Amino acid sequence: MTMVVYPTSFHLATIICLMLLPLHISATEGFSVNLIRKNSSHAHVLPLRRLMELSAMEKTLTPQSPIYAYLGHYLMELSIGTPPFKIYGIADTGSDLTWTSCVPCNNCYKQRNPMFDPQKSTTYRNISCDSKLCHKLDTGVCSPQKRCNYTYAYASAAITRGVLAQETITLSSTKGKSVPLKGIVFGCGHNNTGGFNDHEMGIIGLGGGPVSLISQMGSSFGGKRFSQCLVPFHTDVSVSSKMSFGKGSKVSGKGVVSTPLVAKQDKTPYFVTLLGISVENTYLHFNGSSQNVEKGNMFLDSGTPPTILPTQLYDQVVAQVRSEVAMKPVTDDPDLGPQLCYRTKNNLRGPVLTAHFEGADVKLSPTQTFISPKDGVFCLGFTNTSSDGGVYGNFAQSNYLIGFDLDRQVVSFKPKDCTKHK
Ligand SMILES: *[C@@H]1O[C@H](CO)[C@@H](O)[C@H](O)[C@H]1NC(C)=O
Ligand SMILES: *[C@@H]1O[C@H](CO)[C@@H](O)[C@H](O)[C@H]1NC(C)=O
Ligand SMILES: *[C@@H]1O[C@H](CO)[C@@H](O)[C@H](O)[C@H]1NC(C)=O
Ligand SMILES: *[C@@H]1O[C@H](CO)[C@@H](O)[C@H](O)[C@H]1NC(C)=O
Ligand SMILES: *[C@@H]1O[C@H](CO)[C@@H](O)[C@H](O)[C@H]1NC(C)=O
Ligand SMILES: *[C@@H]1O[C@H](CO)[C@@H](O)[C@H](O)[C@H]1NC(C)=O
Repeated sequence: MTMVVYPTSFHLATIICLMLLPLHISATEGFSVNLIRKNSSHAHVLPLRRLMELSAMEKTLTPQSPIYAYLGHYLMELSIGTPPFKIYGIADTGSDLTWTSCVPCNNCYKQRNPMFDPQKSTTYRNISCDSKLCHKLDTGVCSPQKRCNYTYAYASAAITRGVLAQETITLSSTKGKSVPLKGIVFGCGHNNTGGFNDHEMGIIGLGGGPVSLISQMGSSFGGKRFSQCLVPFHTDVSVSSKMSFGKGSKVSGKGVVSTPLVAKQDKTPYFVTLLGISVENTYLHFNGSSQNVEKGNMFLDSGTPPTILPTQLYDQVVAQVRSEVAMKPVTDDPDLGPQLCYRTKNNLRGPVLTAHFEGADVKLSPTQTFISPKDGVFCLGFTNTSSDGGVYGNFAQSNYLIGFDLDRQVVSFKPKDCTKHK
């Protein structure tokens, strides 16, 4: 039987092989790339959450409410192979494997752009299933030709299956120079299914596990760190977001707050500790019954749109927001499900929420709190889970320069208009 990636044990194995990759990078300076949002008129992707997260956090995370279906992901442009072949992949700090659809793609979602053909690249290398690289991903199995077949699944029920391989991946820097990364382990996906839209050509895994692009880059660009500045979803699609790697991604200056990253057995998610959330001046403790919270109760995920809170806290946040807003919530629109939504042409003017991370208070203005799933409606961009932990989603991350410093093990937040580069 082919391995299916549902059991809890699935993720445990990934942490066993923390070996270094043969990276050959010449550049020593940091660099930046642009993130493009997909054309939302084509979007029908449900928020993407890895199954692994589920096994780590809970097993019954509900599928997303349809209101998020028109919103979603930030696409990162990069090239793969020689000659370079351009792909657009979802920038996902919540997963590790970078993969793209490869020819032949037998059971794949429809894509408008041509797919990567490994036969046409002179730098493509299959990874043998005897190789240690194959076991970096615990779902690697041997094909009859000794290829390393992988399966990688996401909480949205999306799955990619294919062959683990190595390639040159080229990132274009915002300074104009391109940055080739040689021998990057990636998934050549020959069977990819799930709620992807036809602009998306795969996923760029930016998590903390051994196979992620971040781990493979290591300290090559002057420090193991990266930063992102995501524009809010209502911004014109031609305005790109920015992601920086290495030296140039340091987040410093006035207004910066930082919180420790919490190391757990699951190396993929960037765990932080959320003590509570304020709605204006009302402080709601994460753990209603006590000041004690478990360290690392949340993780930051650029691939999940809403912020997901344990029901106990979520219910309190909803109740408090309702009491602060003078308008009546929408109750007669079946499209909106149980979300807290208001009928208003422009976004609400308040309340201001504050996410109290350990050592870092992060203010959320209505832009980061309410999202518009359809004209004339704004909804609280939060949802709930029966788990003890939660996810800090990409709506809340917008208009903050967020730095992940993996050498110092801290995440920093600096308020910033991400539509204005520099
Ligand atoms: C989005 O795609 C549609 C259909 O291809 C196109 O008509 C529209 O101009 C695009 N919008 C933007 C902002 O690119
Ligand atoms: C593709 O994977 C699905 C499971 O995700 C499997 O049921 C199907 O048989 C596979 N198809 C091909 C052509 O390999
Ligand atoms: C990689 O493996 C596939 C399938 O076994 C094979 O067709 C292809 O020729 C191999 N490519 C290289 C460069 O070895
Ligand atoms: C390995 O992957 C290839 C290409 O996706 C597929 O044709 C083959 O059936 C797979 N073999 C095994 C044993 O999973
Ligand atoms: C909440 O606090 C109680 C009492 O200190 C503790 O036992 C429990 O683990 C905490 N729960 C969470 C989710 O942090
Ligand atoms: C989410 O919260 C609602 C009430 O606010 C509750 O009925 C539902 O069971 C919760 N869902 C989960 C997955 O905890």
